[in-house]
Amino acid sequence: MKERLTRQQQEAIKKTRSFVEQKFSGEGTGHDWWHMYRVWKSAQAIAAGEPEADLFTVELGALLHDIADWKFNDGDEEAGPRAAREWLEGLRVENAVIEHIEDIIRTVSFKGAGVASNMKTIEGKIIHDADKLDAMGAIGIARAFAYGGAHNRVLYDPNVKAERHDSFEAYKKGDSHTINHFYEKLLLLKDRMYTTTAQKIAADRHTHMEQYLRQFYAEWEGKA
Ligand code: ADP
Ligand code: NI
Repeated sequence: MKERLTRQQQEAIKKTRSFVEQKFSGEGTGHDWWHMYRVWKSAQAIAAGEPEADLFTVELGALLHDIADWKFNDGDEEAGPRAAREWLEGLRVENAVIEHIEDIIRTVSFKGAGVASNMKTIEGKIIHDADKLDAMGAIGIARAFAYGGAHNRVLYDPNVKAERHDSFEAYKKGDSHTINHFYEKLLLLKDRMYTTTAQKIAADRHTHMEQYLRQFYAEWEGKA
């Protein structure tokens, strides 16, 4: 079988891994280095089932997808693409690949229940699926409560119902308790996966989250 990465490409991925690891070590809001690591590993696993995908773009894009998230850059949605370009230009990656990765970073974020995901290329679809898988299942649950804690949110308030966000603006403004995040995002992800590999994993993780919620509500009422 033909190697999917040249020696030079492997070297660029290795350098990017170290760069991202250094930049994100110790970050505590769910966007730490280990998120990038898991997305990178999941993206590799998904790409194994998508032989037409350019693995170089997939791996660099997975490692860099949250390099400068708008949530931590005063809402600047161009901060991520800009930071990725700067890094990749330093590695002398060809411009077409950089442009593709910039576009993936711009479009990969979840933007609300009523806003369709819009990944255009197989490489983008793989990175999207890997990123969304990390918001599901046992790890997704842990990340949601870590995020809630970092933003001073209560775990749950039975009087505050989930909302359906029809625009990115509305989704960004949402500040509800963490259980609502399951209905506003996490339980919607299984139907947004593009690749069959991720669809299968997502189905399992979805069931796990539903079980978790059943147990949570039972405990809340002293019934479990
Ligand atoms: P994405 O990578 O899909 O764009 P985000 O960057 O918005 O995701 O979120 C990072 C992590 O924090 C995810 O696990 C996500 O589900 C979680 N998260 C985001 N917003 C909230 C929220 N309001 N309450 C709880 N968890 C959240
Ligand atoms: Ni991410």
